[in-house]
Amino acid sequence: MDRIRIRGGRTLRGTIPVGGAKNASLPLMAAALLTDGPLVLTNAPALDDVRTMARLLEQHGLAVEHDTRTRQISLSGAATSLEAPYDLVRKMRASVLVLGPLLARYGEARVSLPGGCAIGTRPVDLHLRGLEQMGARINLDGGYIGATVSGRLKGARIHFPQVSVGATENLLMAAALAEGTTELLNAAREPEIGDLAACLIAMGARIEGVGTDRLLVHGVDSLHGATHPVIPDRIEAGTYACAAAITGGEVLLEGAKLAHLGACARVLAEAGVELDEVPQGLRVRRVDGLRGVDIMTEPFPGFATDMQAQTMTLMCVAEGASMVTETIFENRFMHVPELNRMGARINVHGSSAIVRGVARLSGAPVMATDLRASFSLVLAGLAAAGDTVVNRVYHLDRGYEGVEAKLAGVGADIERLRD
Ligand code: UD1
Repeated sequence: MDRIRIRGGRTLRGTIPVGGAKNASLPLMAAALLTDGPLVLTNAPALDDVRTMARLLEQHGLAVEHDTRTRQISLSGAATSLEAPYDLVRKMRASVLVLGPLLARYGEARVSLPGGCAIGTRPVDLHLRGLEQMGARINLDGGYIGATVSGRLKGARIHFPQVSVGATENLLMAAALAEGTTELLNAAREPEIGDLAACLIAMGARIEGVGTDRLLVHGVDSLHGATHPVIPDRIEAGTYACAAAITGGEVLLEGAKLAHLGACARVLAEAGVELDEVPQGLRVRRVDGLRGVDIMTEPFPGFATDMQAQTMTLMCVAEGASMVTETIFENRFMHVPELNRMGARINVHGSSAIVRGVARLSGAPVMATDLRASFSLVLAGLAAAGDTVVNRVYHLDRGYEGVEAKLAGVGADIERLRD
């Protein structure tokens, strides 16, 4: 298993290119099941999760071409298999996003239940309940979701009791090909939902209310191919903003968009990080010392749970205390013991963590536990005195492209140790 070694203490300066969003690419790729296509996605990132989704769609019978040089993914063809097998779904929960499109287009799907993951139980009940409201019959058997519908899915009024990004995406795709109008209430408003809606509209879907929590989808009989650019990855941008901030540097995040950061932008500003939108992207600069800020994760435009671990690392070396409250996932503090091993002072009480800022972290061997937690340890390593070795880097490779190259390009002392 690869590891990453970082010698801390370098100030980061320069330009970091921000790639296409992982969390936008996965549902966009699943949307290819709604048409014979071709659906061409430009600005697609070369990430392990994207490769897993490509494999899943190939397994369903689609032709997938991923040109990592031009950053283009082309998906075409009809599904020949309606089953998403366990060995692929267990690798990546977002695989469940094939359920809505398969059911809407082919009237049938069998998708392995994704099960739990390191950051929490993460059920899919909201996806299933919504599809049932649209006329699907759902049967859970042998670890699989069996779904069928006689005729087409029917438009329905679906009120989510809780905001879910994945359920909103699954139902948006299903509703695009349903008979009649579907109303999605308390829908997620993440920029990735807007991106999926824009792509579906380019494919011929009729969707109103994009960017709001009430999406109105007038089903159409068929969708056609389209070419769609993937939005920049706001989590990658926010993560590198933290890297610039924790090293006291100045970095241009090429292609990043301020509006996509939601409350993260305000939190960073309160912590003493300057963010300026410029034509090429986002300029990030720390002027003075970092200040502690209280954070609570919420659905967009609130503070993103996917930025919680990285921001907590910033708070570890900020002046004063910060309270970090996680409201989306129940077990998303696995980075805390590792950060404490590097000299951080963090206490967890239920879903909140109190972070007392220290002057300096010290390098140590640490273990990555999930995707975003991995980067929080890289950030700690950038700021720490001495060497940090992050183990289990495969988590990082799921969602960050070219971490060492991007960080070394702005002056970090970082290398991958291959086994
Ligand atoms: C997506 C993102 C993930 C991010 C998360 C929250 C992708 C591929 N992943 O995950 O990076 O951290 O949004 O912003 O886009 N829930 C239920 N029942 C359901 C569905 C969800 O109880 O049927 C709960 C979850 O357990 C969680 C909360 O709702 O507590 C939000 O989850 P959701 O927004 O669905 O996250 P994902 O779509 O899985």
